[in-house]
Amino acid sequence: MPERIVIIGLGMIGYELINKFQNLNYDVHIITRGDKGYFKDTPKYLLDITNREKLFETITKINPDFVVNTAAITNVDLCEDERELAYKTNALAPGYLGEVCRDLNIPLCHISTDYVFDGGKGNYTEKDSINPINYYGWTKAQGEIILNNLNYEDTTILRISVPYCFSPVKDNFFTWVLKSLKDSKEINTVVDQWNTPTYIYELTEGILKIYEKDISGLYHFGGGERVSRYEFALKVAKIFGFDGELINPIKSSELGWKAKRPKDTSLNSTKIQEKLNIKLKNLEESLKDLKEMVI
Ligand SMILES: NC(=O)c1ccc[n+]([C@@H]2O[C@H](COP(=O)([O-])OP(=O)(O)OC[C@H]3O[C@@H](n4cnc5c(N)ncnc54)[C@H](OP(=O)(O)O)[C@@H]3O)[C@@H](O)[C@H]2O)c1
Repeated sequence: MPERIVIIGLGMIGYELINKFQNLNYDVHIITRGDKGYFKDTPKYLLDITNREKLFETITKINPDFVVNTAAITNVDLCEDERELAYKTNALAPGYLGEVCRDLNIPLCHISTDYVFDGGKGNYTEKDSINPINYYGWTKAQGEIILNNLNYEDTTILRISVPYCFSPVKDNFFTWVLKSLKDSKEINTVVDQWNTPTYIYELTEGILKIYEKDISGLYHFGGGERVSRYEFALKVAKIFGFDGELINPIKSSELGWKAKRPKDTSLNSTKIQEKLNIKLKNLEESLKDLKEMVI
């Protein structure tokens, strides 16, 4: 019997995880909110994960070997306006999931974010204190705290940062830069915000290993390199052979975002690399990988 996996959230990361596990012949079941038509032959349960009762009922019925939660309200500015929705989805729902997984003894992997940090220092390890500066980050931090308070030891929390790959679901920073450069469109990218972008194909491979090796705990899963958005965009131009002059360096204060953005939330991902015995790629390596996919 193939092992049964529940992926919650059919967004950018959920999509890639479903692909990954299905290609390896796992019995994948999807829980998400609305049906956008992807994965027509895969069992899909359309529900709002803030509905605790429905969530318990559905997971109990599926009876999986592993649950991964990628569902969240990820629009940082929207979270400032839709506070109740963001709190319920990003903070309360992970708690419900933790409870049901604990009751049924199912390992749970939950995706969190570098935005739980205030960005004052960068190179954050798992031992650093969290101190979010926007509502999105606060709700995600609450999700972690609620999960931790359940003391369910088969829980893994992965903090990721600016995830990127080709995605049929939505644009990410990488695809936005690539499309713009391809169309010879000028773009503005900030010089004063640093991250360690997570290469999604490395993340999905990592989550597979976490399941196979029965790993739990809190881990940073950034990428192998710290860059500003401007430096990231320049690297895309260089590797894909486009004109870097189209990329304008600007300051984040020029963008008029509603929510405050932390300056440097680069993640130190040493712990996960040691645990899984992997070496995360630097941007040049992952972008070359991506380039090969389009040739
Ligand atoms: N994207 C980033 O830049 C970033 C950075 C750091 C961390 N993360 C974290 O990574 C994870 C995955 O991000 P992503 O980019 O894949 O997100 P995404 O593309 O926005 O997908 C989120 C998914 O969650 C679903 N969802 C939202 N609320 C739900 C609810 N109440 N019930 C059921 N499903 C619900 C959405 O459904 P609909 O399609 O119906 O909205 C969507 O399918 C999240 O935990 C996020 O916080 C993301």
